[in-house]
Amino acid sequence: MTDLSAMGGDTSPEDLANPQPLFRLLREAGPAIDLAGEADDGSVGLDAGSGSGLVVIGGDAEVRHVLASPEIFSSGIDAVAIGQVRPLIPLQIDPPNHKNYRKLLDPIFAPRNVALLEDRTRQLAKDLIGPLVDQGRCHFHEAVAEPFPTTVFLQLLGLPVSRAKEFIALKDGIIRPPVETSAERVAYTREVGTKIYAVLQEAIDERQRERQDDFLSMFLDAEVDGQRLTEEDVLDIGYLFFLAGLDTVTASLDCMVAYLANHPEQRARLVEDPAMIPRAVEELLRWESPVQAVIRVTTEDTEIGGCPIAKGRAVATMLASANTDEAAWEQVDEVDFDREVNRHIAFGAGVHRCLGSHLARMELRVALEEWHAAVPDYRVPDGLQLLYSQGLRSIDNLELEW
Ligand code: HEM
Repeated sequence: MTDLSAMGGDTSPEDLANPQPLFRLLREAGPAIDLAGEADDGSVGLDAGSGSGLVVIGGDAEVRHVLASPEIFSSGIDAVAIGQVRPLIPLQIDPPNHKNYRKLLDPIFAPRNVALLEDRTRQLAKDLIGPLVDQGRCHFHEAVAEPFPTTVFLQLLGLPVSRAKEFIALKDGIIRPPVETSAERVAYTREVGTKIYAVLQEAIDERQRERQDDFLSMFLDAEVDGQRLTEEDVLDIGYLFFLAGLDTVTASLDCMVAYLANHPEQRARLVEDPAMIPRAVEELLRWESPVQAVIRVTTEDTEIGGCPIAKGRAVATMLASANTDEAAWEQVDEVDFDREVNRHIAFGAGVHRCLGSHLARMELRVALEEWHAAVPDYRVPDGLQLLYSQGLRSIDNLELEW
């Protein structure tokens, strides 16, 4: 029998750093792998330690099928426990209601609006990176990957940047809770979640008294087809943004810069020709796929590639595996910055495809441009083993020297 145990809670640091061979094992094992029978309390969620209790889907075609079928594979609140008391908007809202929220939110995150943010985002990158140059080394995760997107996002949302450390700790408490079992996870994240709701409620109360130039104020005023969001809706959007905006770009920057540190020839091409950076961002999103999986719950008995899946099962659709599926990609194991067409699904697929993808791409491009202009030649210090986190791939101990 194929050994997929390395995909569970005991994955070695080497496998976490290079998960692609595990994804191949997963795909070879079948179109849908049932990890049932081992869950400690039956609750769901890929970060629940062992990942047991899930049905895992790794093929590109199968993953795309699941994400294109929200009526069978629901994103409802049961799909993942992250301390929320109501469905997160729009992530945990199924069609048809989902569309109403996206109609309202999409314009705020459209490329034209994101472009307006580029100058100040670049200035922030320069301000963070500039003082590091003469030091000859830095803790990249702490000095750049974490503060850069966090500051961009807190300013946009309308939360005080001076409290960034506190907010990052709250976000980490949800995404990487220090617990062993699923039951502990539910209790822990619920407690942290209460604090996140309180932070957001305080900010919303302030905006109700006086609007500011930020997303929270925009959400309170947004209107589609004569409909306004309720204050509770704004809270539920804010909660999702708090998690999505504070973690994903940090994780992606960690993975991308670690890859480039370890591949000096590819890095040199970007230094020589920064116009290649947007394509490198796409290819590294494909290869690293920082959001490795998204979870769905079946609304009826169904099947994937002839494998039956009962109603009510949690299904982990492995975006990272789909992005390295040899059935869908040419030279899949080659990280190729010249790839002409790159239809990766690192931002998901279907109706829930990432709302923040244009913002994320701009931040990643600007960070890589400014970093390589200032520090063209760098490496991971000898003897430092990079520790990639499970689930959402970040590298908290990423240090660099030059
Ligand atoms: C490189 C960085 C990012 C990656 C890899 C990423 C990835 C994803 C993925 C895979 C999904 C789909 C979830 C699902 O289908 O269940 C998603 C949804 C979402 N993302 Fe991102 N994301 C990133 C950055 C951001 C940022 C910066 C924001 C904030 C503006 C954001 C906001 C959202 C929202 C609101 C959704 C839910 C969309 C919906 O349900 O309709 N993301 N993201």
